[in-house]
Amino acid sequence: MSDYKINNILIPEALPIIALKNTVLFPKIVAPLIVQRPKSVAALDHALSRDKLVLFMTQRNIEDNISKKDLYDVGTVGRIVSVFKLPDGSSKIDVEGITRARVESFTQESPFFTAKARPFPIILRNNLEEKAFLRQAIDQFKTISEARSFPTILPEIIYMMMQLKDTEQILSLMTVNLNLEIESQQKILELESALDGLRELNVFIVREKQIIEAEKNVAKETKKQIGKMQKELFLREQLKSIEKELGMEEEKGEFDVLKSKIASAGMPKAVESKALKELSRLGKMPSFNPEVSYLRTYLDWLIDLPWAKKTKEKIDLKEAEKILDQDHYGLNKVKERIIEYLAVQKQVGKLKGPILCLVGPPGTGKTSIGQSIAKALGRKFVRVSLGGLRDEAEIRGHRRTYVGALPGRIVQGVHSAGVKNPVFMLDEIDKIGMDFRGDPSAALLEALDPQQNNAFSDHYLEVPFDLSDVLFITTANVLDTIPPALRDRLEIIEFPGYSEDEKFHIAKNFLLPKLYRDHGLKKKSLAFEDSALVDIVRKHTREAGVRDLERQLASVIRKVTKKLVESPTNKTATVTEDTVHKYLGPAKYSHQMAETKDEIGVVTGLGWTPVGGEVFAIEVVKIPGRGKLILTG
Ligand SMILES: Nc1ncnc2c1ncn2[C@@H]1O[C@H](COP(=O)(O)OP(=O)(O)OP(=O)(O)O)[C@@H](O)[C@H]1O
Ligand SMILES: [Mg+2]
Repeated sequence: MSDYKINNILIPEALPIIALKNTVLFPKIVAPLIVQRPKSVAALDHALSRDKLVLFMTQRNIEDNISKKDLYDVGTVGRIVSVFKLPDGSSKIDVEGITRARVESFTQESPFFTAKARPFPIILRNNLEEKAFLRQAIDQFKTISEARSFPTILPEIIYMMMQLKDTEQILSLMTVNLNLEIESQQKILELESALDGLRELNVFIVREKQIIEAEKNVAKETKKQIGKMQKELFLREQLKSIEKELGMEEEKGEFDVLKSKIASAGMPKAVESKALKELSRLGKMPSFNPEVSYLRTYLDWLIDLPWAKKTKEKIDLKEAEKILDQDHYGLNKVKERIIEYLAVQKQVGKLKGPILCLVGPPGTGKTSIGQSIAKALGRKFVRVSLGGLRDEAEIRGHRRTYVGALPGRIVQGVHSAGVKNPVFMLDEIDKIGMDFRGDPSAALLEALDPQQNNAFSDHYLEVPFDLSDVLFITTANVLDTIPPALRDRLEIIEFPGYSEDEKFHIAKNFLLPKLYRDHGLKKKSLAFEDSALVDIVRKHTREAGVRDLERQLASVIRKVTKKLVESPTNKTATVTEDTVHKYLGPAKYSHQMAETKDEIGVVTGLGWTPVGGEVFAIEVVKIPGRGKLILTG
């Protein structure tokens, strides 16, 4: 085999080798290199003593001690242009790439590698396709260098490249400046023709361009984010100093107070974390934000609700019976049922049974017996009237997004009781309506259903509240208008109207003592004759309950009191049948009795309504007709 001659340089068949880490030498460009390893230094010295030609071969790895297997097959023959020896024995050299060469066989490994290599110059076609690819590559290269993502590409290089005519040289220059991975550089070095090299390079450049685009977007996004964060930080700082100026710092103290209140409110975990989250939102809000006051109100509600507060319940049946008897006359069936209910409750602890519904005409003591039940149990009493309620939000609250939103009546009731186990009277459930604003009874169902009321959801609170300790009692005047689903959950206790006799006793033993107390009278100073009481019951009231009776009695008492106050001599007074008429006017209702003697054509009828009954006589009148029977209904 003979030596090669390229560009007037005679290239010997056997060449010393310097292995390169992390770099590839390309033909027709000058590259600075550091020669450090003993084998490399030996090879350099050998070359310097001869023709200054070395075969530079890239390693597949970055090991220091390598064997021939670690080297790629193709390298570049380089001529050492300058050498600068460094004190530590290594050298900094400039090398000019001459030509590519493929190793055919290694001839020596020590003290340095030598190999027989065959140069194989690049194939240049100089056709249109090659020119087009070259131009395209240069263009792309220019754009990415202008994007400044390659600090290695100096404007001089671009300028230089524009001046060059040699395709191989341009290819080399672009490749080393593109920051490609070593494998890719080596691949381009090994390609047969310049056209293949340009093609390959184009792929890299296009990909590089895409990466630059993506990077640009990321950078823009990051800049935006940082800008926003900085702005927020700046504003917050500014706000702090403004608040300090305005003396709003005490509010910080308030923040801590709220925090400790939240901690001591006995909330369930989930509620507490919600409250703390809202509190921190509040802390971040500038105090002039209108939402601050809404948020404060919300937190106040959360804090004030009795999440864990309970009154200690004592169920003493004897005592309960006594209290019920103390406040109400008669109603034996009702009282008995209530005592039974309490007995079961005492047995079970927490009664998941039906809800009591007291049904009866007005004034029969439904509401007031509810109060007595609470008294008998030693629990707090709350009463919410549902009459005329049409909006579901009344029961369940409005969402916080509404201005002036508040929790619904159930939560309000529990809130006003201050404990989570009050006796809760839902009055007049027969008078709730339903329209486009939703069905309040649906929300009531959830509150009353023992299976689901341990997590009653109120729109305003947004967190569930446990109603399972509440003793719900409902009242109604009639059953018909109670929605069936609701009625299904209720245990009905009927309150029949009172008889005349019962009314008399109620008036004498319960209403009068109460009225005396209310009017600041002594029992001695005003006496009612029994006949006067009967008269009032019979001739001045007509009702199933005793509310009107109470009103009439109060009216009499007021008038007598006025008299007593006006006359300095009279210290006592007695109300008789006569004086009743003086005070209350003539009898409003006449009392009809059944005829004692049967008459022809007259029959005695009995009328019944929930508010009372009456006896009446029906008389037949004989008139001429046409002999036909007409049914009128
Ligand atoms: N059996 C009774 N013993 C003593 N007082 C009674 C009795 N029944 C009713 N009262 C008195 O009658 C008044 C009216 O009763 P209450 O307000 O409880 O009626 P109600 O059944 O709730 O009527 P409404 O259906 O109109 O709400 C109260 O002052 C109550 O103390
Ligand atoms: Mg009532």
